[in-house]
Amino acid sequence: MKRFSITIAGGGSTFTPGIILMLLEHMDKLPIDQIKLYDNDEERQAIVAGACEILLKERAPEITFEATTDPEIAFTGIDFVMAHIRVGKYAMREKDEKIPLKYGVIGQETCGPGGIAYGMRSIGGVLEIVDYMEKYSPKAWMLNYSNPAAIVAEATRLLRPNSKILNICDMPIGIEELMASILGLSSRKEMEVKYYGLNHFGWWFDIRDKQGNDLLPALRKHVSKHGYVTADKSKQHADQSWNNTFAKAKDVQVLDPMTLPNTYLKYYFYSDYEVAHADPTYTRANEVMAGREKFVFGECKKIIENQTAEGTELHIDEHASYIVDLARAIAYNTKERMLLIVENNGSLLNFDSTAMVEVPCIVGSNGPEPLVMGEIPRFQKGLMEQQVAVEKLVVEAWHEQSYQKLWQALTLSKTVPSASVAKAILDDLMEVNQEFWPKLH
Ligand code: NAD
Ligand code: G6P
Ligand code: MN
Repeated sequence: MKRFSITIAGGGSTFTPGIILMLLEHMDKLPIDQIKLYDNDEERQAIVAGACEILLKERAPEITFEATTDPEIAFTGIDFVMAHIRVGKYAMREKDEKIPLKYGVIGQETCGPGGIAYGMRSIGGVLEIVDYMEKYSPKAWMLNYSNPAAIVAEATRLLRPNSKILNICDMPIGIEELMASILGLSSRKEMEVKYYGLNHFGWWFDIRDKQGNDLLPALRKHVSKHGYVTADKSKQHADQSWNNTFAKAKDVQVLDPMTLPNTYLKYYFYSDYEVAHADPTYTRANEVMAGREKFVFGECKKIIENQTAEGTELHIDEHASYIVDLARAIAYNTKERMLLIVENNGSLLNFDSTAMVEVPCIVGSNGPEPLVMGEIPRFQKGLMEQQVAVEKLVVEAWHEQSYQKLWQALTLSKTVPSASVAKAILDDLMEVNQEFWPKLH
């Protein structure tokens, strides 16, 4: 049986150890010959890599391991790139979140002006990795979950139309795990869903068990009372702020009680509430730096110090096993049904055929085939038209180095109240992003 070679791009990510542990757990499904870590921050990656090397030696010595900042070494002789880079790291996420809040506007990693600023940083980083992969391993596939996925996906569609890149988000997976728990099912895989939207901007409208029984009414009932809050806590999204987000889905769902919403819609429907409940001096970036980042890097340092991973509290990110499902779909032509971010091409009949939409796809060795989700209702269509225009304008602004288009993008975002506020936020964001954005004219 072929064993696969994988490069993790963004090797210094807080998610790398959890994903490597998850890959080890699933070796029977996806045998691995080699794991390489690639990052452009040698020092940061060295901590994660030092720990992963010891861990792999102890738990899977048959896997060759290497960490590098050299693209040629990183991307030669591989089958998959798993990409989770964060251009500008947490220092810039913090700015994305805090600058809009100064103007009373949502400050969020992927939604509103923060997501736009992050998009302007990410596009170049992700395209660079696609290019390295194609240069050194032309047959490889890139499984991308670097954010903001909506903007990154549009950039790859427009600027690298023939690349073998699959864009995926774990939010629907996380929510479906909660749905399974609400229903008392053992796994989200017992459900078959119909869903449409953009990334971090979508709705479930049909959910059935494998026998075809309709599960939506029971879920709607629960969500209308409790949002997605359930007794089984999400492991990936465990902090109190995430619990608040799951609870808020109750208010999001009322807008269209027949469907179930993605949690991120709260930033668009309840901007005023979210801003009022945000602390402009301590945002999610601060929470993650003090929480996940501190924990992961602390554990990695301990492993290096002790020269053993025995007793480490680093744990498997089982939730990330969707990445194995995706790799297997490509490697073994499994035709698994998965939600991916793909070019619409008629999946949503009354929507821009060039939009990057999030819909169920059948994934095989030639990539994803989107399923037809049909016509979308007027409310969702209106919202999605506005949001997809924002995302397309950001990519055009990046490509054409156009200040005008970026200002239009911010002005069009439902989270921003006026063109003047958009301009003030844009000018502040541009100032702090000089090192990362293309120069705008
Ligand atoms: P992190 O800052 O801990 O890790 C990102 C790593 O990327 C850093 O080590 C950084 O040095 C590296 N990096 C930055 N620019 C690079 C470049 N141009 N080339 C190579 N490496 C580069 O971030 P994190 O919190 O672990 O998140 C990683 C990414 O995964 C983010 O983009 C995050 O938004 C994304 N994410 C996506 C999903 C999803 O559903 N799609 C879920 C979770 C996380
Ligand atoms: C979800 C989303 C990701 C996002 C993450 C943020 O998983 O799907 O796209 O990056 O949440 O989580 P964090 O814990 O970093 O705020
Ligand atoms: Mn996501």
